[in-house]
Amino acid sequence: MDPAPNNLMCTLDSVEATRALGATIAEAARQGDTIALRGDLGAGKTSLTQGFVRARLGDVEVTSPTFTLVQTYGAQDQEIWHVDLYRIEDKAELEELGLEDAFDIALVLIEWPERMEADLPDNRLDILLEHDNAGGRRAVLTLRGNWAERRLDLKL
Ligand SMILES: Nc1ncnc2c1ncn2[C@@H]1O[C@H](COP(=O)(O)OP(=O)(O)OP(=O)(O)O)[C@@H](O)[C@H]1O
Ligand SMILES: [Mg+2]
Repeated sequence: MDPAPNNLMCTLDSVEATRALGATIAEAARQGDTIALRGDLGAGKTSLTQGFVRARLGDVEVTSPTFTLVQTYGAQDQEIWHVDLYRIEDKAELEELGLEDAFDIALVLIEWPERMEADLPDNRLDILLEHDNAGGRRAVLTLRGNWAERRLDLKL
């Protein structure tokens, strides 16, 4: 079955390819965008974020915010929020992060977005990363809302 028209799929045979996908998405992204990174532990969500952040801000170190929950990069008008909700415990802790305001102005990439599924913005790019059976990854991108009209050159 063909994927729906707003779905794109690609194969990522190395961590470099995962980072390159992040850089490609960075070209199409603008402040106020939300990118939901889905997939199991070790699927490549942080690696994709590394490529994304470096493409926009240069050679910065991007580490997993597993314990801090949020790591921000860049000055105010080009702020990128890298969020990891894996360890979020309850709704109060989620509210303390201040994501509602960030969704309006920052570029927000969220690992484990399922933890706040109902509160995610409708305009967003969903990326599902899955292990393939050759040691690499497969990415399925779902362009929702105003993402549907973006041009993403995935060099397939
Ligand atoms: N396309 C790929 N092919 C092979 N290995 C990859 C690929 N993409 C990423 N990796 C490797 O997978 C490992 C886990 O990557 P990463 O930390 O980005 O996953 P994650 O989804 O953020 O995991 P977590 O859920 O624990 O935060 C890293 O060692 C990374 O180098
Ligand atoms: Mg991660």
